[in-house]
Amino acid sequence: MAIPTPHISAKKGDFAPTVLMPGDPLRAKYIAENYLTDAVLVNNVRGVQGYTGYYKGKRVSVMASGMGIPSIGIYSYELFNFYGVENIIRIGSAGAINPDLKVRDLVFGQGACTNSNYINQFGIQGTFAPIASYQLLEKAVSTAKEMGLRYKVGNILSSDTFYGDTQPGTVWSKLGVLAIEMEAAGLYANAARAGKNALCICTISDHLLTGEELDSEQRQNSFHQMMELALTIA
Ligand code: HPA
Repeated sequence: MAIPTPHISAKKGDFAPTVLMPGDPLRAKYIAENYLTDAVLVNNVRGVQGYTGYYKGKRVSVMASGMGIPSIGIYSYELFNFYGVENIIRIGSAGAINPDLKVRDLVFGQGACTNSNYINQFGIQGTFAPIASYQLLEKAVSTAKEMGLRYKVGNILSSDTFYGDTQPGTVWSKLGVLAIEMEAAGLYANAARAGKNALCICTISDHLLTGEELDSEQRQNSFHQMMELALTIA
């Protein structure tokens, strides 16, 4: 497919090799305005803002994924396959289902289970295990250690529902899954199919077992730590 694509109006070369992906378009704008220098708006189709700028002299892009696997599926596919993007780092929030996690902790999704049908498109006679890029994961871990951040590495669940009729927490929790979000499995599958790299970093915004939640100021502070970490990896 030629660029621009149906969902991205950027020109060839507008994106840096590494794109940070928050879910929220306004967050992408906030990151560009507060963390990057010389940031240029490269996409605004459907208000999904994408920017390319510099962090400590290194060229990096940030664009929103929207919510859910279908949405991140579209944007990550177009970035990997049509815009030559090599690395996508999702920066999001997740609900914890592991008793040792606290709100504000970081979770690096080493693998992403899912209740979505997204993977069925590949026609596999079995189950595909969507996993993070080891290289990006290793960098995330070493950077988090240097920064003295609280983090866990492990399996996460990319759920198709935020408001599910049943609480999926308990059964996944038994299998050691740490937290629930809504995008990583689609991102990891697209990276695998394209031969590219992806990582999902989440801040725990709420705890589904204890009911603990971040207030807005805590959200902002923990977001700042996650941003510094993601930009350092990029
Ligand atoms: N479910 C799905 N995504 C989330 C949650 C959740 O409980 N919390 C933050 N993102």
